[in-house]
Amino acid sequence: MPRLRTAILISGRGSNMAALLAAARDPAYPAEIALVLSNRAEAAGLARAAEAGVPTAVIESRAHRGDRAGFEAAMQAVLERHGIGLIALAGFMRVLTPGFVERWAGRLVNIHPSLLPAFPGLETHERALAAGVRLHGCTVHLVSAGVDEGPILVQAAVPVLPADTPDSLAARVLAEEHRIYPAALAWLAAGRVRVEAGRVTVADAPAPQAALVNPLPEPAPLPTPSHRIG
Ligand code: GRF
Repeated sequence: MPRLRTAILISGRGSNMAALLAAARDPAYPAEIALVLSNRAEAAGLARAAEAGVPTAVIESRAHRGDRAGFEAAMQAVLERHGIGLIALAGFMRVLTPGFVERWAGRLVNIHPSLLPAFPGLETHERALAAGVRLHGCTVHLVSAGVDEGPILVQAAVPVLPADTPDSLAARVLAEEHRIYPAALAWLAAGRVRVEAGRVTVADAPAPQAALVNPLPEPAPLPTPSHRIG
């Protein structure tokens, strides 16, 4: 089966990009990473992609300030030139227009560092700590027109620990991001994802694991023996 030519869009360090590249090194992985595209020439992820032998491109969003349509038209041209059929946003810090999102509907996926629909937008770890949530996490979702909105493909939860700082919590979440994003992209690239009324089903998906509860309830006290035996 030909692998689906996939572009990863980044703006920064590209650790999720690296996780996707690592997964796609397996010839059995259904997506081929055919392009890494950044809106910033200084994005550190570009060098990592080039080292891995993946074609890279830069469309400077700064050069298109106030002209989102022009920026996206330039991106679209590069995506078409590379024969891209699927886009994975991985720390791509531009909001896409409804027109672009519509054009790529069902073929545009994002990772977000919170359990959506909680904490869309920026500084999710700071906000999770401020809200006092006991569970936090990350979400891979298909992109629809709203910011950090769209049908959810997979989520992973982590406990929030009493001593957590935004950085320690971010690191715990990031490890889960690197685990779930390659899995979700594979489902999509293999055509295993169906969306009905905004809800996703994945053909042959692994069964959900047991509930993660934080803090764990205390074990029920053992009944006091009413008489001694022996
Ligand atoms: C990740 O936390 C991702 O969820 C968010 O932006 C961050 C990007 O990190 N959308 P990296 O560039 O993948 O390391």
